[in-house]
Amino acid sequence: MGRLPHPQAFVRWFRQAAPYVHAFRGRTFVIGCGGELVAEKTRFVSFVHDLNLLAALGIRLVLVHGARPQIEAEMRAKGRRSRFARGLRITDAASLVAVKHAAGVLRVEIEALLSQGLPNSPMAGARIRVASGNYLTARPLGVLHGTDFQFTGEVRKVDGTAIARHLEAGELVLVPHIGYSPTGEVFNLAWEDVAESVAIALRADKLLLLTDKLPATRRGEPLHELTARAAEALLKKPGQPPHAARVLKSALRALAGGVGRVHLVARRADGGTLLELFTHSGVGTMITADPLEQLRPARIEDIGGILALIEPLEADGTLVKRSRELLEREIGNFEVVEHDGVIVGCAALYPFPAEKRAEFACLAVAPEYRDAGYGERLLQACQARAEAQKIRRLFALTTRAAHWFIAHGFREADVSALPERRQSLYNWRRGSKVFLKRI
Ligand SMILES: CC(C)(COP(=O)(O)OP(=O)(O)OC[C@H]1O[C@@H](n2cnc3c(N)ncnc32)[C@H](O)[C@@H]1OP(=O)(O)O)[C@@H](O)C(=O)NCCC(=O)NCCS
Repeated sequence: MGRLPHPQAFVRWFRQAAPYVHAFRGRTFVIGCGGELVAEKTRFVSFVHDLNLLAALGIRLVLVHGARPQIEAEMRAKGRRSRFARGLRITDAASLVAVKHAAGVLRVEIEALLSQGLPNSPMAGARIRVASGNYLTARPLGVLHGTDFQFTGEVRKVDGTAIARHLEAGELVLVPHIGYSPTGEVFNLAWEDVAESVAIALRADKLLLLTDKLPATRRGEPLHELTARAAEALLKKPGQPPHAARVLKSALRALAGGVGRVHLVARRADGGTLLELFTHSGVGTMITADPLEQLRPARIEDIGGILALIEPLEADGTLVKRSRELLEREIGNFEVVEHDGVIVGCAALYPFPAEKRAEFACLAVAPEYRDAGYGERLLQACQARAEAQKIRRLFALTTRAAHWFIAHGFREADVSALPERRQSLYNWRRGSKVFLKRI
C-alpha cells in the first residue's frame, strides 16, 4: 500500500469528522438520485462505496433511484420516440415496458454493486443486505391541461412501517421509481416525488437529493445554506431550470412534512455526499425549515411579551420604565426576536428626522438567550430602519451596557451631542452614559 501523501491533513480531517459520526449513528437518511448517476459507471461505483461507509457508521439508509436515461435508451433502441409534457414523461404502454425493463436491470446492477466484498477494495468486509419491494401505492397523474399522462403516476401512499422494519434489521432499502395501484396497474413515478414521499413517511433526519445544478447566487457562487423561506423566494425568480425547480419543490415539501434537513448534492462531485455530510461548510446546499427564532417588526400582540421581557430590567434600573399604554403607542418603533412564539429580545428606534439622528433604545435579550448574537442582530435591524430614513447617527443611553455599545461601534459622547428635544428629557439623576455611532 502506498504512503499517505498528507498524513497530518488526514488525521485532522478524520478528527473533525468525529462529531458527525456520533451524531449520525442510528439516524435515517433518504438519498435520491436520477438514473444518470447509475449510468456513469465509475462515479456510481464510488457512490456505492460511500453508501457502504455510511451504512458501516450505523446510518439507516434508503436509496431512491430513477431511470430516465435508461428508459430513453431502450425507447431509442426500439425506434420509438418519448413524449414529455411539463417536464414529465407521458408513459404510454410502450414506454411502460421500457420502464419495467429499466427498473429490473437497475435493481440487479445496484444490488450487485452493494454485494461486492473483495479484499483490498473499499467494500472489503462489507455485508450490506438490500431490501426492495412494493412499498409505494401509486395513482395515475391523470389528465393535466388536456394531456393524458397515462401510466405516469404520483405517490399515493408509502408503506413506511415496512421500510422501517427493514431499516431496523440493518438493511439498506432500495426504492425504485415504480408504484402499484390497488387496481393492479404499474405506474412510472418521478424519483424526486418518491424520495420526498419516502422521507416524509419515515420522518427522515435527512433527505439528500443528487442533482445536476445547485442553487447559486447571481454571480454563480453556490449557496451552501438556505432556509425554506429563502428557497421559496428563489423558486419565484424567473429563469430557474425546470429540473432544479422540481428538486427544490420536493425539498420544500419534505421540510414542510417534517424532514429535518434537505441537502442538495452535486451529482458529479466525487465524494460529494461524504463532503456534504462530514464537513462543516459542506459542498452542496443545505436547506433547513425556517429557524425557530425570527427577528421581525413588533406587532400589537407582542406587547405582553415585551413587558414580560423588560419588566425585570426596569425593576433593577437597567431600563427606563415603559407602561403598556406607552408601548401601545410606540409599538411601531420596536423590533422583536420571537422564539417558538415567545418574545426573547426587543429593541426600539426613535427617529429625530430634523437632526438626522435616531435613538436606539430599550435593547433587551432574555438571559437564557444572551451571547448568541441577538443583541447585535437587533442593532442591525434598527440600523437598517434608520438608514432607510436617511438617519446619519444613532445614539443610545445606557447605565449598564457601556462596553456592549463600544464593542458595536459606538463612541462615548456628551449629553450635548443629543438632539435638543432629547437633551431636555435627559434624566440627570439616572446619569446614563451617552453613546453615538455614525452610520
Ligand atoms: C446588552 C444585551 C442586550 C446584549 O444582548 P446579547 O444578545 O447577549 O448580545 P450579543 O450576543 O450581540 O453580544 C454578546 C457580547 O456582548 C457582551 N455583553 C453583553 N452584555 C454586556 C454588558 N452589559 N456590557 C458589556 N458587554 C456585554 C457579552 O459579554 C458578549 O461579548 P463576547 O461576545 O465578547 O463574549 C443583553 O445582555 C441584555 O439584555 N442586557 C440587559 C439589558 C441591557 O443592559 N440593555 C441595554 C440597555 S441600553
